[in-house]
Amino acid sequence: MERSLVLIKPDAMRRGLAGEIISRLESKGLKIVAMKMLRMDNALAQRHYAVHKNKPFFDELVDFITSGPIIAMVLQGDNAVKVIRQTMGETDPAKAPPGTIRGDLGGDVSHNLIHGSDSLESAENEVALFFSAKEIFAPDY
Ligand code: RTP
Ligand code: MG
Repeated sequence: MERSLVLIKPDAMRRGLAGEIISRLESKGLKIVAMKMLRMDNALAQRHYAVHKNKPFFDELVDFITSGPIIAMVLQGDNAVKVIRQTMGETDPAKAPPGTIRGDLGGDVSHNLIHGSDSLESAENEVALFFSAKEIFAPDY
């Protein structure tokens, strides 16, 4: 079983889509093993998106992700990283197929509702940025 980090981004919180997004992920059989609501500060955003540091959209990305509260979650399940990415759809909601979170709920490339770790290695690093070991439950509760 894998663990992955999911963030419900500020646009999804503003639009009242947190429940819908969580429901879709739970329906796929993924188990919530950690969850908190927080507002990311600049330092956390810089660390979380460090891989994009030199991209032209980096400043906009940090401004957006720190613009309001988010929900951070650790989800656990078989192939969690891939299952979550498939459930999210492509980065640009215009290219995400119907049936995916981004494809159905819309937005634009800079406001795309949800983050999910893109590899097992990223997942391990990102989970540790948001949660201590004692905040993460075993999935058999
Ligand atoms: P995320 O990291 O947020 O889960 O999204 P992702 O893997 O689908 O996309 P990624 O390539 O990691 O990009 C991170 C976030 O940067 C914004 N972005 N803007 N303007 C642009 O061309 C552009 N490209 C990426 C997106 O908001 C994306 O979620
Ligand atoms: Mg990414």
